[in-house]
Amino acid sequence: MLASFEKNLKTTKKMGKFPFVSMVVNGKYVFEGSKTNQDYTQNLDSQLDNFIASQRITKPLIQRRNGIVKHLTKILTNKFKNAKLTSFGSFESGLSLANGDIDLCLEFNGEPPKKVLKKIARMLNEDGMKDVKLISNAKVPIVKFTDTQSLIPVDISVNNNLSIYNTELQKRYCEVDQRVKPFILAVKYWARNRGICDPASGTFSSYAWTLIAINYLQSREVPVLPNLSKQDGSDIVTIHGKKYDVSMDKPNSVASFKSDQNSVAELLIEFFTNLTNHWPWNKSVVSVREGKLIPRDKKGWQHKKPYADEIIKGGENIRLGKHSLPVEDPFDQFHDLSIVLDAEGVYEIRDEVLRAFSLINKYSDWGAICEPKYPNLVNNAPQLDLFEDLRSKQDAEIKLELEQLFAKLGLLEKRISARESERNEAIRMSKALRKNAELAKEQTTLSTELRPRRNKINELQSKRDSTNNNYIPVHFIEEELRKVYTNLTETSDTGIELSFEKEKALFSWFFELQSMHAHAKATRNYHREFLRLVNQQEKSIDHIRNIRKEIISINKFGQHTDFDDLAKRLLIELNPLKKERRQLRREIGRLEAWLRNQQSGNKRGKQYKKPRSKSTKKPGNIAAVKNKVASGDSFSLQDLDVLLKNGGLTEVNSKGNQPKPTTKKAKKTKPVLQPHRGKRGKSSKNN
Ligand code: CTP
Ligand code: MG
Repeated sequence: MLASFEKNLKTTKKMGKFPFVSMVVNGKYVFEGSKTNQDYTQNLDSQLDNFIASQRITKPLIQRRNGIVKHLTKILTNKFKNAKLTSFGSFESGLSLANGDIDLCLEFNGEPPKKVLKKIARMLNEDGMKDVKLISNAKVPIVKFTDTQSLIPVDISVNNNLSIYNTELQKRYCEVDQRVKPFILAVKYWARNRGICDPASGTFSSYAWTLIAINYLQSREVPVLPNLSKQDGSDIVTIHGKKYDVSMDKPNSVASFKSDQNSVAELLIEFFTNLTNHWPWNKSVVSVREGKLIPRDKKGWQHKKPYADEIIKGGENIRLGKHSLPVEDPFDQFHDLSIVLDAEGVYEIRDEVLRAFSLINKYSDWGAICEPKYPNLVNNAPQLDLFEDLRSKQDAEIKLELEQLFAKLGLLEKRISARESERNEAIRMSKALRKNAELAKEQTTLSTELRPRRNKINELQSKRDSTNNNYIPVHFIEEELRKVYTNLTETSDTGIELSFEKEKALFSWFFELQSMHAHAKATRNYHREFLRLVNQQEKSIDHIRNIRKEIISINKFGQHTDFDDLAKRLLIELNPLKKERRQLRREIGRLEAWLRNQQSGNKRGKQYKKPRSKSTKKPGNIAAVKNKVASGDSFSLQDLDVLLKNGGLTEVNSKGNQPKPTTKKAKKTKPVLQPHRGKRGKSSKNN
């Protein structure tokens, strides 16, 4: 059966990339049933047995993986106190290939901190992990990296709890029938080796292939797998505010489930035959949740434009319409795993299916069917023997290598220390200059306030003085007013009434006092405001004087932004040096561990002793710096710092120019060089 995107396609230049689809388009691909025979099937079964044995997760591999998880748990939960690191994916479901990755989820109790993945990526880089990449535009953003020593790839996501449930579902499906696990592993291995298992390049994820494989086993004529999704609301989880029904049956609850006895090879042959001849996505959606293929219109997932053929014909690199090859997530029913596909990805998938079927019909072996298409993109086999390269070497040779590494480390330490102190000085200078700039700004603000305030003071002074020619203090007037009022209103002790004349005079004096009182009050307010402003003016002038004294005369060395740039440049230089230092320390640790190991097995051998690394010199003292300045020699930022800490340039010509005899330096503690992981986890603090 033609896939929908093959129907109206003419051979274009791009089709050269898809030889089998081209054959279909040109009518040269013969759609037929499987031509295989029993011999071939038996043969393929024994090849598959060998393949599964080669993918066995050995004890050393488990130990190595556990070691990585333990180490990451330590550094991540140390940094994020309210978080827990959980593993999921094939590492937990048992569906891992030998070179499979480790999927980890950092679960926060509540909202994760801002830019948490960026922080994790930085930490992992500092920890010396390889190829650390932040993939932030995925549905579930992740940090991807490779463990430097074992070359095991790791993905870390945050609060990706639904994956923990679908991992459990995958695990349960594997437990229903012993053919399930080898069948899925074979599909994943084929997809991975043929370059169609990489969402980053527009093809399905490993998880999507697992679901496609499970769904095939559920939906074939005689199902191998039942439907374990219960969907009865008995287990509801809330993730990011959304509710998901994650209820699922236990594998043993379907004990009555009966299937046929077809071998894994037969199931695989059938899988490819079926995909080739009944391309399911023309009309259906792959739904593990329903345990069968469901019609696109029932699901409401019609293929949105632009279709893959339109994009390929148009030759433009545009986004493929939704639901191209729909695969429903079993718990997140709105999530179609084909969202990651691009037009070329769709053709690549189809092309590989056609190729696999065509090879099967030519009785090709499993190795040929899964021949790596892009060998350099297939994950490296995990490196489990840390000492592999040392086993054939003599101890003397390793010791020599170790000495060279120590010498290299010593030199590197010096380079790092020089840059670090230069950077610290640049930061100090930037801070000092920044403070200067702030002070200068404050000085300007204060100065601009002086003149208007002076004008206001003068104005107040003249107002106060104009009403103040015969100024009597307010409290005097008030006292006098009280007296006159008493005289006017109360009968005297002698009982003699006030004469009319006297009373008239008192009234007129009372009114005069009242008018004086209003004037006196206004004058008093002018006077008070005048005093307040004079006081403020004096304070500002004092402040300006102090600022002038405080501004250090280092402005001539540049602006704070120059020193910020310098500090930034030095940091950029420092990062790779520190990475190199971590690698050196780790390698030294590894060689030392090997030598110790050798000696514990050979007690008669001479005990291995660590060579001592030389300590790095500290920056110069004030006397030496002053000599340099006095003699006109060029001097460094450290010298400048020493100078500033000791009174600055003004002190250069004063007493104390003679260099003091150097005092004994404090002994520098040597870094602990541990085997294996060195000081991982503490590195960010210690470097
Ligand atoms: N996952 C998911 N949704 C996706 C992709 C992945 O929920 N779109 C979850 C699944 O639980 C999956 C896990 O993330 O098992 C890891 O994904 P991946 O590494 O692609 O699959 P694995 O099953 O781990 O396969 P592999 O061995 O190839 O790593
Ligand atoms: Mg994985």
